[in-house]
Amino acid sequence: MLKIYIDEERIKSRVKSIAKEIEKEIGDKEVVFISNLKGSIIFFADIIRHIKSTNIVIDFIATESYSGRKSTGEIKILKDISLDLSGRDIILIEDILDTGLTLQTLINYIKEVHKPSSIKTVILLDKPSRRIVDLKVDYTGFVIEDVFVVGYGMDYDERYRNLPYIAILE
Ligand code: IMP
Ligand code: MG
Repeated sequence: MLKIYIDEERIKSRVKSIAKEIEKEIGDKEVVFISNLKGSIIFFADIIRHIKSTNIVIDFIATESYSGRKSTGEIKILKDISLDLSGRDIILIEDILDTGLTLQTLINYIKEVHKPSSIKTVILLDKPSRRIVDLKVDYTGFVIEDVFVVGYGMDYDERYRNLPYIAILE
């Protein structure tokens, strides 16, 4: 059973305000926005549409870290970034920060392999109660309790990503 946890209106207004903060920070600078697929796809698409700069480019990386509802603590790169990121400023967009293992591993991987000049991070949801690694992100949508959520890009066994709201699966 699905129970709405964060409705469309709240998501819309929070996404807009984060995007406006990012817009203010980046100004006219060339920035590469990267979506960590698949979970952040909807959030990513909504964020970038609020940014008026004509100097942003986008790219994607696809990782897998979860099987069912549990973090495996390991990430697999299913698809890598295709642009040359060396010396460029990037903004990495992720759906959820839970234990922190995925984002930490991903950031280290991007730094080592792609050598950008800077990485800022944007997450839709923060579940601080399960954090294992100490990781600071630059922008956070909502801080939530330790509940398993789906919708707005997030899945349970690949389903529910299309829902326009964030729901708890009970
Ligand atoms: P971490 O490695 O424990 O920080 O887990 C982060 C990853 O697990 C995110 O990229 C999410 O895709 C996934 N994840 C964590 N919590 C949830 C959830 O409640 N619903 C769906 N995916 C989740
Ligand atoms: Mg994910």
